[in-house]
Amino acid sequence: MGEYDLDRAVVARVRDAADIVEVVSEHVALKRRGRNWTGLCPFHEEKTPSFSVNAEKGLYYCFGCHAGGDVIDFVMRLERMDFPEAVEYLARRFGVELPRRSPGQLRARREAERVAGILGEAQRFFVERLGRPDAAEARRTLEARGFPEPTWSEFGFGFAPDGWRELIGALGRRHPVQALVDAGLALVPERGGNPYDRFRNRITFPIRAADGSLIAFGGRALGDTEPKYLNSPEGPLFSKRSVLFMLDRARRAAADEGGVLVVEGYFDCLSLHRAGIVNVVATLGTSLTPEHARLLRRLTSRVVLAYDADPAGRRAAGAGARVLLEAGLEAAVLVLPEGKDPDDIVREEGPDRFRELMARPVPLLDFLLGDAPNDPEGRRRIGREIAELVAGARDPVTRFALQEELARRLDLPIAVIAEAGRRRARRGPRAGQAETAVEEPVPTGELELVRIVLEGTPDLRRKALEAVRDDLLRSEVVRAVFTAVRALETEDTDIVGSLLAKGTDPAVHRLVARVTASELPPVDERSALQLIGRTARIHASEAARRLQRAIREAEERGDEATLAKLLEEKTRLRGSGMV
Ligand code: UTP
Ligand code: MN
Repeated sequence: MGEYDLDRAVVARVRDAADIVEVVSEHVALKRRGRNWTGLCPFHEEKTPSFSVNAEKGLYYCFGCHAGGDVIDFVMRLERMDFPEAVEYLARRFGVELPRRSPGQLRARREAERVAGILGEAQRFFVERLGRPDAAEARRTLEARGFPEPTWSEFGFGFAPDGWRELIGALGRRHPVQALVDAGLALVPERGGNPYDRFRNRITFPIRAADGSLIAFGGRALGDTEPKYLNSPEGPLFSKRSVLFMLDRARRAAADEGGVLVVEGYFDCLSLHRAGIVNVVATLGTSLTPEHARLLRRLTSRVVLAYDADPAGRRAAGAGARVLLEAGLEAAVLVLPEGKDPDDIVREEGPDRFRELMARPVPLLDFLLGDAPNDPEGRRRIGREIAELVAGARDPVTRFALQEELARRLDLPIAVIAEAGRRRARRGPRAGQAETAVEEPVPTGELELVRIVLEGTPDLRRKALEAVRDDLLRSEVVRAVFTAVRALETEDTDIVGSLLAKGTDPAVHRLVARVTASELPPVDERSALQLIGRTARIHASEAARRLQRAIREAEERGDEATLAKLLEEKTRLRGSGMV
């Protein structure tokens, strides 16, 4: 938790104070062209400038890769900062004072800082102990696993000695034992008595948050002591559900390479990083959670899951893919040779072999259909299951692509696939999944209306906005786009840029980016007018039906006031020729 309370008003102050041209100029050589500044886009490779900055509106936008947003978005993207980091950075730089959090919030923060300090000391202790004679087996193990001494400091390997009060003995002089317990480094026996060290006779390694700060430890047993791996307990700094191992080191590569690989094991991740394959993170002995997916979404839209080829691995991959799709990400699967984990492959067959495998992940549908039975009934059942999974994809373009592909593969009409998915959507989000609630698929017509509004002529846009009754749109995200467009200045011409600047709704951002990025031919006036006309008729008659129903209900209730208002509305609608 940050030290500052970043509410909307403060964020707006920072946004206004920050000079976007100055910030962008540090990374991009900008030339003035009319009201805008242009240059080579820092987010994709290009030779002719398609990146533009509008100083007045405080926006940037790339016509090549469709990256766009305000100065905060720019800093987040380019510096890989999260939102609070970017706001705090800009506030410092442009002299905006940020309001501090409340005393309670600050106390929690001080406690977290105390724990962080202790973890730092523990790290130094473990590292020092790895050099001592009693750590010989740990050192040999590391070397045998492909980590010779020069790599130890890079990965922060250490050794927790084989005793009950080694760490307590070393740190206990400066900290009360209770502080070590709070930091997850010591345990109190259930029946009372003296606290003892949590990590004993293990190789240790730091677990860091996305910003690189030390938040926990992992410990690998020597030999086959159980449990094989031991983590710090959940605490103020550490929650397995929302931490991905080595994300701090994978961030930049994941963004640069346009994808990230998620593996299941600590040493799988460590070995790949050691081999120079760094767009890799690991879950910490848990399945992939929506929180994990959100962390990844900040870096990339493509996630590859590395799982075993056995039935358990297949189930885990299916569950992981569902979480990714629901978060709006694309998912593929890296299928490894039977019985091997990534660490085995890198060590036995070398990094290049792994790179080859990684370059050709199995597309999600291939993977899911992989063990589909051949009989028609079996295929229908599998098809239904996959259709439901695919229907949960939050990103409409991904969802359509998957539905189309699935329909083709199963040789079924796409309507059947979409219907199976809708059945799932009606069941509603599962318990505890409110955040990733399933969106209804965006009907094709509504998607096209969005395109007309974003890319059509001003005249078409005006007609589309007139025709559509937002409350009658079926897709929530399309509704959000229409509402956002209506809130813009009427003479606004750079609809896309303005939407990106205004909207804090990531779903709107994504839909806008997708629609504008699609390689479709320009909006065709004739078919656009047809669609607008059809929508106008459908929405008008639906609105009239609703009005009629409301009038009847008001009459039955004897609610004169409401009735008068409704009748007035009906007259108005008639006057406009809509009913
Ligand atoms: P595996 O048992 O598959 O082992 O655990 P591994 O990763 O291949 O370990 P090595 O190569 O023998 O050292 C996979 C992951 O499950 C979690 C860890 O994150 C581990 O990397 N795990 C496993 C635990 O948290 N605790 C355990 O006792 C075992
Ligand atoms: Mn392994």
